[in-house]
Amino acid sequence: MNDIYIAPSILSADFAKLGQEVVEVERSGADWLHVDVMDGHFVPNITFGALVMGAIAPLTKLPLDVHLMIENPERYIPDFAKAGAHLITVHQEACVHLHRVLHMIKEHGVKAGVAINPATPVSSIREVLEDVDLVLVMTVNPGFGGQAFIPSTLRKIKELKELREELGLKNLRIEVDGGISAATAPLVAQAGADVLVAGNAVFGRSDRSAAIQEIRSSLQD
Ligand code: DX5
Ligand code: ZN
Repeated sequence: MNDIYIAPSILSADFAKLGQEVVEVERSGADWLHVDVMDGHFVPNITFGALVMGAIAPLTKLPLDVHLMIENPERYIPDFAKAGAHLITVHQEACVHLHRVLHMIKEHGVKAGVAINPATPVSSIREVLEDVDLVLVMTVNPGFGGQAFIPSTLRKIKELKELREELGLKNLRIEVDGGISAATAPLVAQAGADVLVAGNAVFGRSDRSAAIQEIRSSLQD
């Protein structure tokens, strides 16, 4: 089994002091930094682009886990690769030519991930599982931080874990995003998730170190 990584999402950080927030969360024991990019089309909210990410990249050694919640993600892959992305995840629902987009990411020397919304079945990405480093199972509908975890997504995490075993894809990571806290982390980890994104549960607390520690200890019980 893979180690479980915790990836705080800067969506819930204080944007007025983003640099400090990133440095603090690295010091507090985060494994990856989750970067939520929204375009106001694929999702109803707008965040930031590669310029802002490029500004924080030199401040941290944490791998930058870029979640593109945008239409036509292929247009921006070169920019995010250049800005220091370690992994770029695109949505199945946003890509007509998903296989091509995933390979474009890899051609830029970046790891590739595919995300599915709560209403999208695992079967829709079955044909690209061999092409990706990570599958992101959305555990809320994307667009906003601080939403409630959707329990029916646990079935899909289990299904993916079984498929990973069946296909011998032992390096494939299963990431979950939305409503993850010390209360829901054990459920998703038990189902098979090994990268846990947490926005509100980390940046919503003044003691980020305690917040990350609580999530980690919830996994030991
Ligand atoms: C949702 C984003 C998430 C979000 C998670 O659209 O993709 O990464 O920041 O936030 P919480 O953990 O607060 O649900
Ligand atoms: Zn995200």
